[in-house]
Amino acid sequence: LASAPAAPDLRGLRVLVSAGPTLEDLDPVRYLGNRSSGRMGFAIAAAAAQAGATVTLVAGPVSLPTPPGVAQRVDVRSARQMHAAMLDAARAADIVIAAAAVADYRPAQVSTHKLKKHGGAMILELAENPDILAALAALQPKPFLVGFAAETEQLEAHARAKLERKGADMIAANRVDAGLGIETADNAISVFWHGGQHELARADKTTLARELLALIA
Ligand code: CTP
Ligand code: CA
Repeated sequence: LASAPAAPDLRGLRVLVSAGPTLEDLDPVRYLGNRSSGRMGFAIAAAAAQAGATVTLVAGPVSLPTPPGVAQRVDVRSARQMHAAMLDAARAADIVIAAAAVADYRPAQVSTHKLKKHGGAMILELAENPDILAALAALQPKPFLVGFAAETEQLEAHARAKLERKGADMIAANRVDAGLGIETADNAISVFWHGGQHELARADKTTLARELLALIA
């Protein structure tokens, strides 16, 4: 196949991948969440295992089976749980790929009983969640850090700003709009790092995962 990417070789490397959304509880029956399916992160975990890496997958709530060959899967729900699981696992990782769509905010108060409606508008107070990628960038020794960025506009400017702000080594950015990105089978990714960039043309997430890992390798 002329378009088949070079198979990445990750033998002997430990790869940590985050995937899926995080859900932030409001009361026993309600939460704030996002549309991430987890498929991109799971495809990366599958491709990394296929490439010979020892893979740990930290997953938010998704309905996906663990890919074959993944050594360890840790299921979490909230951003704070993902933060703890990622910091724990990252100490034994050479490469971290943060594909999870982490909620930036959580309800400031979690009600122990179901909130009742009362007439009129409701104002919800939100608290900021920890930035997991930025926390990982402070580790010593620091693993090779790959972040994702889903953007609706100014893709390169926003992606490069995240590279700097979060101390990542690489940002895989994708445009989210109708038919691309979140909740879809196909994706197109622009990869940015200090002094370079590479376009991964629209393809299924398995192909993109392999191409991204080849770039990282
Ligand atoms: N990320 C993270 N912890 C957070 C928020 C995001 O680790 N609390 C990670 C994501 O997993 C992703 C990268 O940071 O790899 C970029 O996420 P994104 O939401 O695009 O960046 P933010 O810094 O949250 O900026 P904004 O949402 O305002 O665009
Ligand atoms: Ca965000």
